[in-house]
Amino acid sequence: MLALDVLDEKNALKIAEETCEYIDSIKIGYPLVLGTDLKIIEKIKNLTGKEVICDFKVADIPSTNEKIAELTLNYADGIICQGFVGKDSVSAILNIARKKNKKVIVVTEMSHPGATEYLKNVANDMADMAKNLKVDGIVAPSTRVERLKELKKIVGDLFIISPGVGAQGGDLKEVLNVLDENDYVIIGRAIYESENPKESAKNYKMQISTF
Ligand code: C5P
Repeated sequence: MLALDVLDEKNALKIAEETCEYIDSIKIGYPLVLGTDLKIIEKIKNLTGKEVICDFKVADIPSTNEKIAELTLNYADGIICQGFVGKDSVSAILNIARKKNKKVIVVTEMSHPGATEYLKNVANDMADMAKNLKVDGIVAPSTRVERLKELKKIVGDLFIISPGVGAQGGDLKEVLNVLDENDYVIIGRAIYESENPKESAKNYKMQISTF
């Protein structure tokens, strides 16, 4: 899953087009949507034929979450929300997504060092909640493989999307040892900031498919 956190349309579409034969899915977030607008999703989908997941880490009260999900899922194939706001807030998003046949992915533990201060302590409970609500997937860190393993065990057949390989220092092979074929490795800067994004995506794809 390519994390396309560039800021302008021209660059985003160029990288998406160059790399799309080597990726399965595209994740965009505030950087690109605030730098352009939600219609960028349609443009990426038309150009690449890939699904686009919006990483808005939505974290509000149920009624506000509902509005954000409604607008986002008019375009995107899935939305990422925070689990720490509780099951009523996550359910509000899930209700909208189910009506539109779209995916909901819940953040459990984030991949950056700061996530060990607070999130890590409640991540297992959030994974449990995600499983009970029957969302589609969770976000879990490639930067802490032991935690990735534990979270995967909790969510069972929910898929995992896992950021942290590349720029954040996660080791691809260690991560692939934990994930299975329904899961996704998220890679951003190591592709879009490389001198040749196409080659970088191709290289990651080769390592993943020959693992
Ligand atoms: O550039 P890099 O490969 O580090 O990109 C990782 C992507 O995953 C970014 O879009 C970041 O916002 C996102 N992300 C993360 N950790 C999480 C959830 C999302 O790094 N727990």
